[in-house]
Amino acid sequence: MGIAVITGASSGIGKEFALQLRDMAGIGEFWLIARNKERLELTAKELGVPCKIISADLSTEEGIEKYRAILDEEKPEISYLVNAAGFGVFGSFDVLAESTVTDMIDVNIKATVLITHMSVKYMKKGARIIQLGSGSCFTPLPHFNIYSSSKVFVLHYTKSLNYELKPYGIRATCFCPGWVDTAFLPKSLDAKDAYVPKSMKPLLDCKKVVKGCVRASKKGKAMYVTNWYTKLQHLLFKLLPDPILTKMWLGMLKKNEAKGDK
Ligand SMILES: NC(=O)c1ccc[n+]([C@@H]2O[C@H](COP(=O)([O-])OP(=O)(O)OC[C@H]3O[C@@H](n4cnc5c(N)ncnc54)[C@H](OP(=O)(O)O)[C@@H]3O)[C@@H](O)[C@H]2O)c1
Repeated sequence: MGIAVITGASSGIGKEFALQLRDMAGIGEFWLIARNKERLELTAKELGVPCKIISADLSTEEGIEKYRAILDEEKPEISYLVNAAGFGVFGSFDVLAESTVTDMIDVNIKATVLITHMSVKYMKKGARIIQLGSGSCFTPLPHFNIYSSSKVFVLHYTKSLNYELKPYGIRATCFCPGWVDTAFLPKSLDAKDAYVPKSMKPLLDCKKVVKGCVRASKKGKAMYVTNWYTKLQHLLFKLLPDPILTKMWLGMLKKNEAKGDK
């Protein structure tokens, strides 16, 4: 059994994937990647198995190259890759700072693709890749545009990759949950004057949805949508035209008065 590489392992969904892959897939060694070294060490302590801590900012070239250097030096067998590093901030084109926009694209898209590309050559038949899409990637979402569009990329990229990898016995799954109870949500409301959701309910339990995704990944599913609410959304997105969906979405938003990004 090879190692699991988890980006975004310092909190939330990435951390939960590490714990579930230890318990559900018997992974005995992890490479944990995120910026916050102390929180990565806490994840390693909780896992209680050998872990390599890779503190790296994946929005930067140095961060990506740090992973490449360790990978090329150690040449591990990778059984699981989970790309959970990512973030999203509500705000329209005139609200979000340019650096917030480029960081979202760099972490959610560029780092996901590069880390996958580098890791695949260290995978054998049976290996699995899990990418973090989102329930927000099924339709255009004004005021959450960069984030939701970045996740559309991840969804299409992963579905296509799943076909490309099939002959090698490797499968890629795009995980598309609704709102999950993690640090993601408060951070997403950071921009002043942005339109943000009036409510982010129902909030999904991180452990429960990650367990479901590990099962889907083992089965080789190209996409895993959870929970029933997000599945219903997914169905409506297929049935209704974009203008109706966008109108429904805009009706769910309110002006964010309290915070400031720009
Ligand atoms: N929570 C939700 O409702 C939800 C729904 C759908 C999809 N998702 C996706 O799930 C993934 C995980 O989010 P989460 O909910 O677990 O949120 P979270 O608790 O805020 O975790 C985000 C993780 O990404 C890492 N990260 C962020 N920017 C980074 C950077 N520049 N370089 C390296 N690591 C970085 C963070 O670590 P450091 O801060 O230590 O760098 C952290 O470990 C994201 O891709 C998110 O888009 C979340």
